[in-house]
Parts: sequence; C-alpha cells; structure tokens
Amino acid sequence: MTEILKRKTDHIELVLKQRLDAAEEKSPWDQVILTHNALPEEDLRNFDLSTEFLGRQLKLPFIISSMTGGPFKAEKINAHLAEAAQELGIAMGVGSQRIALLSEGDNGLTNNLRKWAPDIPLYANLGAAQLRDDFSQSDVQKAVEMIAADALIIHLNCLQEFIQKDGDTNWHGLLDAIENVCAYLDVPVIAKEVGMGISVGTASRLVNAGVKAIDVAGKGGTNFIKVEAERNNDPRLQALAEIFKDWGIATPDAVRDIRADLPDIPVIASGGIRHGLDAAKAIKLGANVIAQAGPVLRAATESTQLVLDHFEFMESGLRIGLACSE
Ligand SMILES: Cc1cc2nc3c(=O)[nH]c(=O)nc-3n(C[C@H](O)[C@H](O)[C@H](O)COP(=O)(O)O)c2cc1C
Repeated sequence: MTEILKRKTDHIELVLKQRLDAAEEKSPWDQVILTHNALPEEDLRNFDLSTEFLGRQLKLPFIISSMTGGPFKAEKINAHLAEAAQELGIAMGVGSQRIALLSEGDNGLTNNLRKWAPDIPLYANLGAAQLRDDFSQSDVQKAVEMIAADALIIHLNCLQEFIQKDGDTNWHGLLDAIENVCAYLDVPVIAKEVGMGISVGTASRLVNAGVKAIDVAGKGGTNFIKVEAERNNDPRLQALAEIFKDWGIATPDAVRDIRADLPDIPVIASGGIRHGLDAAKAIKLGANVIAQAGPVLRAATESTQLVLDHFEFMESGLRIGLACSE
C-alpha cells in the first residue's frame, strides 16, 4: 500500500522531469500531414467544437486523462483539473482508484471532486490487472459511486506491469473479467492503454466484451517504461526497460486503424497529443475526442488558471487546424 502510494508520487515527479527531457523529441504526429484548404468558408470563432460523447455533451472535444487518484499532492492536482474541466465543459478521468479502495477511505477522491465539477462527465479508473482477483463487484461499484462517475475507465498496462518491480504478471482471464464488469455495471466502460496503444484486434475483443469506447493512449507521449527505469536502480530492470523503451503502437496509427475497422465505436485519441494541431489531425483521422495527461500535469500542479490557459491554447490550435484543412 505505502509502496503503491510512493510509486504514484514518483510517477508525478518523473513525468514532469521526462517532459523537460523530451521537449525536442520527434513525434509520430509530425508524419501526419493535413491538406491545406485555402478557402475554408468558415467563421473561425463560431466553428462549433462541441460534441456528444457517451451520451453527454462536451463543449469542447477534450478529456483530461486519468492521472492521480490518491491523496496529498494529488488532491490539489485533481482540484485544479476538476475546476478547469467544469469551467470548460470538458470531461475528466481520475487516476487509478486502487489505493482509495484498498485503504477503504476516500484518499482525496470523495464527492469533493463533484463539488469542484458538479456537471461534467467524470470517469472512474481501475486497472484490468486488479479486476480478476483484487476487487469484487461491490468494490468496482464503489469506485464508480465514490465520485458519482459517468463511466468506468479500465486501464490496460501490461508492459508496465511486466517490467515494473512486483507488477501484476498474470493477465490470464482478464478479458472475461472485463466482460463481467461491463455486464453488471450500469455506467459504460471505456478501455484505455497508458501509452503503448491499442490494436484493432484488441479493440475488437474489448468491444465484443461490452466495452463502449476505446482510448488508444498510444506511443509518442508519456512513456511509463522510461519512468519505471528511472525509479529503479535494479540493472536488470533498467536493461529490460532499455530494450522496450520504443515499444508500442503510435497514436495516429492506432486511431486510423481502429476507425477503419470499427467505424461506430467512439474513439479517444490520446498519447503524445502536444497541441491543438495534433488534436485536429486526430479528429481528421477519425477520433471523437482528444485526451491529454502529461502535457497538462505541470499546469495542474500550479493552478486552475494555468489549466484553463492550457486548454484555451489547445482550443485555438484545434479550431485553426480544422478550419484550414480539407
Ligand atoms: C502522472 C501520471 C499518472 C498516471 N496514472 C494513470 C492511472 O492511474 N490510470 C490510467 O489509466 N492512466 C494513468 N496515466 C496514463 C495517462 O492517462 C495517459 O494514458 C498517458 O500518460 C498517455 O497520455 P499523454 O502522452 O498525454 O501523457 C498516468 C499518466 C501520468 C502522466
């Protein structure tokens, strides 16, 4: 329990550091080129960006990706994110609620979140790896009720679990566990990676199991394999992380492929979305909405206003990118 808490706190520090180190790295979004439309016939300011997602209306097609579900620093981060999401009319996912459930306390994740964000879609979050053995049906329902969530995100992070010290290495039977949750929960289930992407084959299996939306969370942004390597002094783990550091499906590829094969499934494009132009490219490839985690983390540690500024800049780039492309 203390170890999980420490890992979560380390993740915040290391992702902030990774973002500084990676500022100049290439992005798979640079390979996606939109065709310029010299005669858009649009009024940029009135270009409607609102969208419906899982039965709820979003004023902008943005979701704040799951990051922190716990206490201390996380509570402040979640407060800034939730207040900004409420003002912007966008959705927000909380980070894993594993600690909150294991500690049988709220650990910063009570209906407080609903005080800051009474109206927006909020998404609960649990790891697939813990669904089979660690949590009962009532635990999963509790995670949803704890924040009056509109949906449950189940995160799939097999590579991270396989590499990390004491990770969950037995992934046998997890599709059945997901199918079970989809059947008994009365809110929709979203399946999401954490930065390695979801293939068409995996997306199809998840949809057949009852999952209602796929968040590809692809390669190109926050990289938990590098983060885990930095957290540990174990040379074997670091060597393993080194050979898997470029593993995964790039976000644009995952979005394009899933949209081609599963035309009706709502798709969230996330993983390495840097700015509004990447967001415009993702929408053009077929994503319904865009999500970000790492890029908004620094702002979230500081203030609600900085989170608002971040998304206002995202909106400008998205608006121009969509209006100027064919
Ligand atoms: C500090 C931090 C903590 C995270 N914790 C979770 C988590 O608890 N559950 C989850 O589903 N994803 C978690 N993620 C993964 C993100 O939701 C997202 O999928 C990933 O960072 C890729 O998006 P990005 O490139 O915009 O950061 C976390 C990401 C960050 C940066």
